[in-house]
Amino acid sequence: TDAFTYDPGFTSTASCQSKLTYIDGDQGVLLHRGYPIGELAESSSFMEVAYLLLNGELPAKDELDKFTYTITRHTMVHEQLANFFRGFRRDAHPMAIMCGVVGALSAFYHDSTDIHDPVQRVIASHRLIAKMPTIAAMAYKYSVGQPFMYPDNSLSYTGNFLRMTFGVPAEPYEVNPVVERAMDRIFILHADHEQNASTSTVRLAGSSGANPFACIAAGIACLWGPAHGGANEAALNMLREIGTPDRIPEFIARAKDKNDPFRLMGFGHRVYKNYDPRATVMQKTVREVFDALKVSDPVFEVALRLEEMALSDDYFIEKKLFPNVDFYSGVILSAVGFPTSMFTALFALARTVGWVAQWNEMITDPDQKIGRPRQLYTGPTQRSYVPVGER
Ligand code: CMC
Repeated sequence: TDAFTYDPGFTSTASCQSKLTYIDGDQGVLLHRGYPIGELAESSSFMEVAYLLLNGELPAKDELDKFTYTITRHTMVHEQLANFFRGFRRDAHPMAIMCGVVGALSAFYHDSTDIHDPVQRVIASHRLIAKMPTIAAMAYKYSVGQPFMYPDNSLSYTGNFLRMTFGVPAEPYEVNPVVERAMDRIFILHADHEQNASTSTVRLAGSSGANPFACIAAGIACLWGPAHGGANEAALNMLREIGTPDRIPEFIARAKDKNDPFRLMGFGHRVYKNYDPRATVMQKTVREVFDALKVSDPVFEVALRLEEMALSDDYFIEKKLFPNVDFYSGVILSAVGFPTSMFTALFALARTVGWVAQWNEMITDPDQKIGRPRQLYTGPTQRSYVPVGER
């Protein structure tokens, strides 16, 4: 019974079979259902990628229209859900709110918590993908003391999210097409990433038969950590702390120091031992957004110089540490107007597509079993209880 493979962090254990996403970490390749992430980010839309991940094929025009319409129809949340937000402190971290509110959705949609009904599984999936922008925008609105904005279903998925976040009822809100495209691209880049920690969490939670809303809430909790989705927030905070290019060597030295827990945030990846293909698109998008909004931010210069210096440093070369998806995303999100505390909530919004697709794949997998890792026991051998007075 002790003959289990000891694999901390599951670095060499395949927990499932999946047809969704392929990564070749040595070559820096990421494919969704066979399509390269660069092509999807360049030419596709988040709704199209969501359809692709859920259904296996890119949609025909009428299929995409129908899917988009269906998602749009589910964007509103129950009025009672707003009361959940009101129970939080105004300065609550949006991820704390997301964990609670998304988990609470199970209480509003008892009909679609039946995981054995394929129709209800589809409805639950659509509900989650549709309501995530509404919930994320509400978390933001609550933090700034502005009224919640109802969805406007004449807008695109991403345009609607921008309006619910930055619009106010008193004025018409015009969606900037370059910002809309950039945000849609950021969502595409975060949509799925095979068996990362939060996706594995969703699958593990779901393997017990728990309802999809509760499972996605578990994924959100896992995503929050700075080694995972929290890295976008941590990366921008780090770049701001560095402040000017002349301070970069000091931070590189800290990252290399074994006695200093500091790491370059937005750098390194469990699977990529080459440039993260998502970071390439992200870097290009920074320039597009800066040009369109006619803004600049010294933090971008710091990021570019930091990347350049790290990639010519032996430590980072030997350990194959490259910028990951989150190295540049914060620079864009900040230019668009999001506070850093919202960054990981945006990641959660986009990753919901992958979580939901992976959850569906798991539920319908004939090999599916409850996830139940074993352990190597290292505690005391059997001994007899000693009454408290004799210890
Ligand atoms: N800065 C400095 N050293 C690093 C870094 C870094 N960012 N990342 C890894 N290392 C070193 C690490 O100290 C270790 O050195 P040694 O072998 O001497 O002990 C070696 O590289 C391997 O690191 P590891 O922690 O064993 O590798 P891992 O696969 O367990 O961790 C990681 C991957 C992403 C958690 C890690 O690279 C990290 O903490 N990066 C910073 C946080 C970050 O950007 N996370 C976002 C990941 S991408 C978005 C997402 O999917 O969520």
